[in-house]
Amino acid sequence: MKITVLGCGALGQIWLSALIRMGHDVQGWLKVFAPHFRFQVVSPEQDSFSHTLSVNDSHKLQQCELLLVTLKAQQLPSGLLPLISLLPKKCPIILMHNGLGVVDELPQLTQPLCHAVTTQAAYRTPTATFHKGWGFTQLGPLNSAAASLSDLAKILHQALPDVAWYDDIKTSAWKKLAVNAVINPLTVKYHCQNGQLMDVLSEVTLLCREIALVMNREGIHTDDSQLFESVVNVIQATAGNYSSMLQDIQAQRSTEVDYITGYLLKRARCFGLNLPQHTALYQWIKQQESDYASDTLRTTLPSSW
Ligand code: NAP
Ligand code: PAF
Repeated sequence: MKITVLGCGALGQIWLSALIRMGHDVQGWLKVFAPHFRFQVVSPEQDSFSHTLSVNDSHKLQQCELLLVTLKAQQLPSGLLPLISLLPKKCPIILMHNGLGVVDELPQLTQPLCHAVTTQAAYRTPTATFHKGWGFTQLGPLNSAAASLSDLAKILHQALPDVAWYDDIKTSAWKKLAVNAVINPLTVKYHCQNGQLMDVLSEVTLLCREIALVMNREGIHTDDSQLFESVVNVIQATAGNYSSMLQDIQAQRSTEVDYITGYLLKRARCFGLNLPQHTALYQWIKQQESDYASDTLRTTLPSSW
């Protein structure tokens, strides 16, 4: 299959290596043009895969049979839109990211559009990408053109198992958002590994209660204790991890908070709900982001300013 992967970061590279190994005809799409992209992925079993990939070939994009988008939520609209006019009208697009609300920022697309929610885990260093743990990827349709594309899950499953098709991908995405909306901002607040959140379970309880209110209004069947249990499971399973949001804050990058807590608060407002715990965490993260944004501005402005 002719596949383009847009966003060749940690998640993009583990998919690139898996798809190439399956014999697919794959190219990468980078923000800045380069003739080639060399990358190395180390598997959880310590096998190393190195490859030099062709990138940003518009001709290949025009022939593409699948566009896999592994950008961060906040990078997605500006990264994807310039490619749409080159992409065949029937080429499925899979948005594989954490958070929700990206799709509200995209125009209506003729291409079949899917969302993928994954628990695969990978991180990048300057020399290689480390695939830290095998996960589960849930794939499902975001528009009617994608409703009958369940075979895509089989193709992806052959490359990087497990992958399964979910007609109701909205519920899967909300469940993942719930986990991220609790763990990620709390690890920034306490500047800690995920496992240390076991010391603040009363806060976890309050955050889960607020999320359950919104999810119920979204028509998703869940409650505080189910959410609490799944969040605690992830805290324990990823105890030694530094969350992606804490890593972004430490590296002074913009975080995905607008598509996690921000989206939760936006939906809560639509239902007339007030979420004081999540509001406080959201403001905390935005404050951190704006502190380093203004530090950067200060250090890049001439001293006369
Ligand atoms: P990442 O390593 O930062 O990868 C994103 C890549 O996209 C970076 O290489 C970035 O380049 C590139 N990029 C940014 N703007 C672009 C543009 N306009 N055109 C082309 N490329 C562009 O992030 P990630 O960890 O792979 O995460 C991707 C998504 O998957 C996120 O939503 C994340 O929450 C989710 N996710 C990740 C994991 C994981 O284990 N990594 C697991 C589950 C879900 P620069 O770095 O040069 O900006
Ligand atoms: O964003 C992250 O860091 C991860 O999705 C998770 C599950 C919170 C584990 O660190």
